Amino acid sequence: MRESRKMEHVLHALKLGQLGQHGLNDFKLVHNCLPETSSQRIKLHTSIGELQLSSPILINAMTGGSSETETINRELAIVAREKKLAMAVGSQMAAIKDKSVRSSYQIVRQLNPDGIIFANLGSEATVEQAQEAIEMIEANALQIHLNVMQELIMPEGDRSFVGMEERIAAIVDSVSVPVIVKEVGFGIMRESAARLRKLGVQIIDVGGTGGTNFAAIENARRNKNVEWLNDWGCRTSTALLEALTVYPRGSIIASGGIRNPLEMIKAIAAGASAVGMAGAFLCVLQTEGTKAMLDFVDELHEGLTMVMTALGTEEISQLWQTPLVITGDTADWCNARGIV
Ligand code: FNR
Repeated sequence: MRESRKMEHVLHALKLGQLGQHGLNDFKLVHNCLPETSSQRIKLHTSIGELQLSSPILINAMTGGSSETETINRELAIVAREKKLAMAVGSQMAAIKDKSVRSSYQIVRQLNPDGIIFANLGSEATVEQAQEAIEMIEANALQIHLNVMQELIMPEGDRSFVGMEERIAAIVDSVSVPVIVKEVGFGIMRESAARLRKLGVQIIDVGGTGGTNFAAIENARRNKNVEWLNDWGCRTSTALLEALTVYPRGSIIASGGIRNPLEMIKAIAAGASAVGMAGAFLCVLQTEGTKAMLDFVDELHEGLTMVMTALGTEEISQLWQTPLVITGDTADWCNARGIV
């Protein structure tokens, strides 16, 4: 069941594509006609918490747990290694329950021994399982994903979410690598962010709506449909601004529907340190192949360099000082929630 579900998620994610609004078009950069820099001076390295990254682009968690998904992880790992991108594997619970599928995750470390790789588990994980997932791939950090609405829509999904905070706190206290709590596309808003910060979570990935939509994916997989939940969640733009009221700059990853360098720069200018992409990478890899994904990453890096040159910002963290105007629904949301 679990193995076929992994591939069903991949196929439905590809079929449905990126759905809904991420809201980043409500962020307007202010043109600088006197940038006083050159493309040669632009540096794309960044840091999130104690993690030092060569690029602000992260290949976000997707898959593993079967031979078909091992092939995907293999190709993603090659791209991550060649382009020096941090990469997360998909949930490793499959490999914790069935040791025979471990290679589908371990391939990522084998192919990229010096890379920054994130382990991944859900909030049902125990401390022992978290340690096992980290050791399995010699991970540099552990992602814990939150996906309540996906679980509720999934016929075989969890129905009880009691004890999530306690388990997350226990993992944060016990493991030796940074813990990143991430949403899978419904957004982390300030009330939840405040609770996560209190639990000691150092890094969050706000994972808002506008890209891969797990409500729609689960609805496509099940017979009894609850399509009226397909718009559940909050946009990436609002989740990012909400999270910034709780978490300092340097500790937030923006994700959810991000597809191009301009969206990346806008998310970083608002306060993110890095951006995660899952569905957009999967689409290029599965429809056009590894070479196309390598070229795509080059285009993303060239685009980031272009926009940073135009803005006169030579380092990723300098983007936080660049003026940004918040308009439209995102501005209305912030007003309604008292966020300045
Ligand atoms: C995911 N995502 C995901 N996240 C996670 O933490 N553990 C997982 O196992 C998976 N599995 C998974 C499978 C597939 C096929 C996709 C496309 C995505 C969610 C992913 O990391 C990300 O949070 C969301 O996809 C939103 O980002 P994008 O796709 O809009 O860039």
